[in-house]
Amino acid sequence: MTSPSAANSGRSPADVDLSVAIGALRLRNPIIAASGTFGYGVEFAHLVALDRLGGLVTKGLSLQPIEGAPAPRLCETPSGMLNAVGLQNVGVRAFVEQKLPELRKFDVPVFANVFGYCQEDYVEVIRILEDADGLSGYELNISCPNVKKGGLQFGNDPETAAEITRAARKAALKRPLWVKLSPLVADMGLMARAVAAEGADALTVANTYPAMVVDHRTRKSRLGNMTGGLSGPAIKPITLRLVWEACKAIEIPVLGLGGIETANDVLDYILMGATAVQVGTASFTDPRISERLGAELRNLFFDDKLFNISELRGRFLTEIG
Ligand SMILES: Cc1cc2nc3c(=O)[nH]c(=O)nc-3n(C[C@H](O)[C@H](O)[C@H](O)COP(=O)(O)O)c2cc1C
Repeated sequence: MTSPSAANSGRSPADVDLSVAIGALRLRNPIIAASGTFGYGVEFAHLVALDRLGGLVTKGLSLQPIEGAPAPRLCETPSGMLNAVGLQNVGVRAFVEQKLPELRKFDVPVFANVFGYCQEDYVEVIRILEDADGLSGYELNISCPNVKKGGLQFGNDPETAAEITRAARKAALKRPLWVKLSPLVADMGLMARAVAAEGADALTVANTYPAMVVDHRTRKSRLGNMTGGLSGPAIKPITLRLVWEACKAIEIPVLGLGGIETANDVLDYILMGATAVQVGTASFTDPRISERLGAELRNLFFDDKLFNISELRGRFLTEIG
């Protein structure tokens, strides 16, 4: 049997092209640090070579600052973690004034994660960001309660998700718009098509799974907010299927996000059709993981005799045996 190195003779891992196109954007590699797990990016600059990342997504930004949920906010679970941060953030104006000027010093595509409690909030946050320099795009987090519709999440209903995407698309004149979907959908294909039809440039699949951890001795929740969102390796098989369903349903790029810890996890998502991935919870155990995965991915591709991501993307085989 030929060893991978013999089969690749004359070529080296440096010949692997990890760059990916997401709409008109080209990222140097498919590894993006996920929202809420990488601060506003600037806090990680002393630890991580930001210019080696495919990109980073900021903490969710709202129109007004939000203090967030009461402590405790994080709780470890088997193969994962629960969080209820309550979307704490400095607010979009403080982000533009205080964080963005610092971020502009780094050669990394920055995507602003946007959320609101009604459609007008989303639109206003985007309008404020449109006037600022230094962003590569927006990621709409639609897994938030819609206060006008009695707390129902925007992201659970295809019609509401389409409405908010349409409004955001009209406001986002300068930059690409990604929509981050909730995993709590009855039919991921239907949801993906509804959002893509309104002009989203890419979909991020998916957010955390609503969950609880309680202590029967104290009879209390382990989170101040009572419930939280489950993330980490525990959710990867569930989200992998959602990514597959989304990729089958639409033509626009899908970013896979859920439980990624290794370069093999990244390849799994690419196999299902993802164009790029995001890394969330794993940054808590190793803040440099997104940088490291880029290097590991190059070697893994080379060992598999792959020199371009498109040679693997969506090549999942459905034959049995
Ligand atoms: C502490 C924490 C905060 C998060 N905050 C946000 C947020 O503000 N906006 C958002 O869209 N997703 C947020 N997420 C969800 C992650 O971006 C990601 O979708 C989820 O954790 C699944 O990926 P993972 O298993 O790699 O962590 C947060 C996740 C965690 C763990």
